[in-house]
Amino acid sequence: MCGIIGIASNKSVTSNIIQSLKKLEYRGYDSAGIATILNGNIDEKKCTGRVDNLEKILFKNPSSGSLGIGHVRWATHGVPNQVNAHPHSSEEVSVVHNGIIENSNVLKKNLEKKGYKFKSQTDTEVITFLLTDFLKEYDLVEAINKTLKTLNGSFALGILFKKYNNVVAGARRGSPLAVGYGPNENYLGSDSYALKSMTNKITYLDDGEICILTNNKIDFYNSENKKINKKILILSNDKNLAEKGDYKDFMSKEINEQNTTIKTCVKEYVDQLRKDINLYNFPINPLDIKKIVLIGCGTAYHSCVAAKYWFEEITNIPIEIDVASEFRYRKVNLHKENLYIFVSQSGETADTFAALDLCKKNKVKTCSIVNVVESSIARNSDFVLPIHAGPEIGVASTKAFMGQMLVLYILAIKISEIRKEISRVDYEKKINDLIKLPDLIKKTLNYCGNHIQIIAKDFLQTNGAIFLGRGLSFPIALEGALKLKELSYLHAEGYPAGEMKHGPLALIEEGLPVVILAPKDRYFEKTISNMQEVIARGGKVILITNEINKVISENVRFTLEMPETGEHLAVFLMTIPLQLLAYHVASLKNCDIDKPRNLAKSVTVE
Ligand code: F6R
Repeated sequence: MCGIIGIASNKSVTSNIIQSLKKLEYRGYDSAGIATILNGNIDEKKCTGRVDNLEKILFKNPSSGSLGIGHVRWATHGVPNQVNAHPHSSEEVSVVHNGIIENSNVLKKNLEKKGYKFKSQTDTEVITFLLTDFLKEYDLVEAINKTLKTLNGSFALGILFKKYNNVVAGARRGSPLAVGYGPNENYLGSDSYALKSMTNKITYLDDGEICILTNNKIDFYNSENKKINKKILILSNDKNLAEKGDYKDFMSKEINEQNTTIKTCVKEYVDQLRKDINLYNFPINPLDIKKIVLIGCGTAYHSCVAAKYWFEEITNIPIEIDVASEFRYRKVNLHKENLYIFVSQSGETADTFAALDLCKKNKVKTCSIVNVVESSIARNSDFVLPIHAGPEIGVASTKAFMGQMLVLYILAIKISEIRKEISRVDYEKKINDLIKLPDLIKKTLNYCGNHIQIIAKDFLQTNGAIFLGRGLSFPIALEGALKLKELSYLHAEGYPAGEMKHGPLALIEEGLPVVILAPKDRYFEKTISNMQEVIARGGKVILITNEINKVISENVRFTLEMPETGEHLAVFLMTIPLQLLAYHVASLKNCDIDKPRNLAKSVTVE
């Protein structure tokens, strides 16, 4: 949440800051701002709304300067207006911040007593005044460290100084911050994606560290003001993957490339010749695992729900699933024989990271399933299983969900094979089904493309919708409802179909769209009975199934016929119409597809 950029150069930095902020907009888009050092003074420009607005301000009233910081905001403290937009500057310093300062109220009172006048409602302004105050007594690095020690909470910071007018400083605790090395300039960014068009040489700050950038040098310090050395990583060159190409938005690109991303991921893990799965030195012996605990947030959590069904079906290992924001604060009994798996697209989600950190501190076995392999969660877990989906920019997670499910499924089969809980024949059959999956996804994408736009129109005359499924279709119902909520702002519920009669059936009224997920599985007949109960009460049913012949679909408004696939893999195909449904309803309602209101891609605050 919130995007930060900082550049120390020997030429004007404004244009590169704006271009980078556009890339970071997926992290927050309430307001934007920039500060540069101009003629020895801090020059700050801010606006509400998108970076485009900031660009217009700069067009009328240009900024220059070879040192600068920029910010896109996802509001936490204070409404999204111009005053609360970052940077927050005093005469002496200018600060951009991602995170939350938990003791800001107390700090503010103390600073007010000293005579500092606050303009904004943000927690960030206390950092500006603390730095201003400490700089009266201490040198640059000491003043930053004194400030950081006063703050509770999480932060990544970019800072400009009037006195040290050739440096940009960065610091972090809890929120990520990347440092980039360029020719005659150096960079700070809240993720490496924002820096990729400028450099592929990156260092990640660790908690409690500080970096001081000039145009030709980067120095790192620890919390004791001592200089430290950091490793430089060379990032892969996947710039093109992060472009929209001919697509209208990132989400439609990301939905439509799922056959390719799943193919890449299958290739990474499946040895197609030997009909085997390769987990590349997975350091944990599956025979020693007593229990697996799967943890994530939002869509990533839904992939954990699906995985629970697979693991329970294919292995004899007890499985628990948990939402990270609950796990991190509950009194959980952590055990050395358990494996704790953390699922996250960004690898930076604050709650998931905190849950991982709790496990690390208790020295239990951890593994992460992430998309961004340089992320904090990946770097801090014992072992990483990447999903190989390429950059996901649309705020609503689509291809990452498919990748997370795929890697979890692959892991379940491999663990089962090593524990001899699956027969060789069944193991090979499952691998053969996996190899066929990308083509089936392609077929489903082609088929759905023609139908969903029509179905979406029904959702314009309603205030809500319900998604129902049993077994493995239940997590997909949850995911379908989440996608519709976040993209089209319609109220949507995902429910286990068998639970309807225990309350939610009261919601069914004439014309309410109800999406029924009924693949050919052991629940099929039962789900169809639940569907009839919905139809009898006036619900407008959209049935998604691959068991066409058995359905009496007289009163079904639309039936979507999915290709046949192994029972465990039907969920991958069922997910696609739900993603497209949310996409088309949101398009018809003119919602901002890639940047739904109130949300941001990388949730680095609690
Ligand atoms: C929904 C969505 C979110 C994320 C959640 C976790 O479309 O994108 O629910 O899944 O914020 O994010 P990651 O996977 O980055 O940990």
